[in-house]
Amino acid sequence: MTQQNDSTHEQDTTLTNRQGHPVTNNQNLRTVSNRGPATLENYDFLEKISHFDRERVPERVVHARGAGAHGYFETYDVVGDEPISKYTRAKVFQDKGKKTPVFVRFSTVIHGGHSPETLRDPRGFAVKFYTEDGNWDLVGNNLKIFFIRDAMKFPDMIHAFKPDPITNIQNVERFFDFCASSPESFHMVTFVYSPWGIPANYRMMQGSGVNTYKWVNHEGKGVLVKYHWEPLQGIKNLTQKEAEEIQQKNFNHATQDLYDAIEREEFPEWELHVQIMEDGPHPELDFDPLDDTKLWPNDQFPWYSVGKMVLNKNPEDYFAEVEQATFGTGVLVDGLDFSDDKMLQGRTFSYSDTQRHRVGANYLQLPINAPKKRVATNQSGGQMMYKRDLAPGQNPHINYEPSMLNGLKEAAQDGKEYTPYVEGNLVRESIDRQSNTKQAGETYRNFEQWERDELLANLIRDLSVCHMDIQNAMIALAEEADEEYGRLLKEGLHKARKESSPSKPLGNIGGDHAPQDAIDKGH
Ligand code: HEM
Repeated sequence: MTQQNDSTHEQDTTLTNRQGHPVTNNQNLRTVSNRGPATLENYDFLEKISHFDRERVPERVVHARGAGAHGYFETYDVVGDEPISKYTRAKVFQDKGKKTPVFVRFSTVIHGGHSPETLRDPRGFAVKFYTEDGNWDLVGNNLKIFFIRDAMKFPDMIHAFKPDPITNIQNVERFFDFCASSPESFHMVTFVYSPWGIPANYRMMQGSGVNTYKWVNHEGKGVLVKYHWEPLQGIKNLTQKEAEEIQQKNFNHATQDLYDAIEREEFPEWELHVQIMEDGPHPELDFDPLDDTKLWPNDQFPWYSVGKMVLNKNPEDYFAEVEQATFGTGVLVDGLDFSDDKMLQGRTFSYSDTQRHRVGANYLQLPINAPKKRVATNQSGGQMMYKRDLAPGQNPHINYEPSMLNGLKEAAQDGKEYTPYVEGNLVRESIDRQSNTKQAGETYRNFEQWERDELLANLIRDLSVCHMDIQNAMIALAEEADEEYGRLLKEGLHKARKESSPSKPLGNIGGDHAPQDAIDKGH
């Protein structure tokens, strides 16, 4: 956002209304004598209060709480020892040292707009690159995988994780009910319940595109690609206890940490890494490369650093920039493409759909969302449109294409078009190689001891208030993932049941719980 800085009014701080009329009395209603009643022609008051009445737009249906910053991305122009152009023709990645402006919004996912930033939750990591070819959004999270692999399940998942529709209270039983019934989520649950589920702040967390994308080169050849951000400040996660201690004193700590660091000119930096795979189903792998519940093993698919991002400017206005920022997975530039990842395809419809509702039909005309290059479309009208997107020299009467009267023309294709061949029956089926728990076991074994201890303590605390069937299903998943993981979870839950008071725990309103003797005989 740029401050309105009309030079003729530089030193003039006179308050005006939105019609530009000076406001001479901002303290009192216009009333019949100084005790009232008020009159209906109080234009200044009515305008002031009715704008106030409309100060909120709907909060994001997920990722409602966020913090943002501006900065730039600097390309390295290589993938390992090779020029990056071998893999992608995207201009943002060409020419070593080229800087592209970015805007980043970090967020928590499930909780509402003013919720504590210390809660166990994935964190959003959305980056808007204002490239010379138009905008590219990389809408990621801090963790590299996700709970589900099919977009069809997303609304159910979010309903289960958000507050109960009757009590308006979040309930771990609803969370685990969904997760225990969706075994593909077990890997993500293993991360979220470990300290990786509470990053210490936004500066010291990783980011990842999570979904599989494609890169396309000048010959029109595509490869599969995954993106990961690595913080140069280091990574720091919190134990449950540390998080609670911070929350007692400050529930805005992550927003404050980011803002203060930038004000101190300690600009946070992340390196962007990619993992690359030949395009194709890769039957030699025990997972599907389009499955976002899986990590691509680093030893088989090394990380290559392709650039660096620096955040060096705080927003001038939170609402105009952070709240109204809109990111979407469909926002790609030439040389970047979609894969057939079913989550990515579902997401790509959802973002711009919700943004037309949340911000309005002309959300792309707002300065934070508009590309920093010329826009020329034949789309106009709709609420809050304030300008036509005309090309210099174009005939302004022509708002259609094709035309012989100097209207807008299609762009020339730059490089060979990418035209993958697709064939198959239309079906509603999940993918074949599900391998739901194997990587969860590997992740468990890769954790340090304190991370495993935290994971188990956190799982036992929250699962112990859940229905027996849910507990047993989660134990079965943990046993399948790793012998020790399963055994310790089972023992811990058994102990927690013995020690639990007969009264129902507060968070647990699911009802229909197994009687104590059935619990003792069970797992
Ligand atoms: C925000 C949908 C999966 C990362 C949102 C929003 C919607 C949405 C509707 C609100 C956008 C807005 O109001 O501007 C979906 C759907 C998904 C999905 C339908 C699955 C089918 C994911 C995954 C990730 C992710 C896998 C991580 C890679 C984000 C982030 C935001 C967001 C970071 C916040 C963007 C911002 O800061 O404005 N998502 N999402 N989402 N989503 Fe997703």
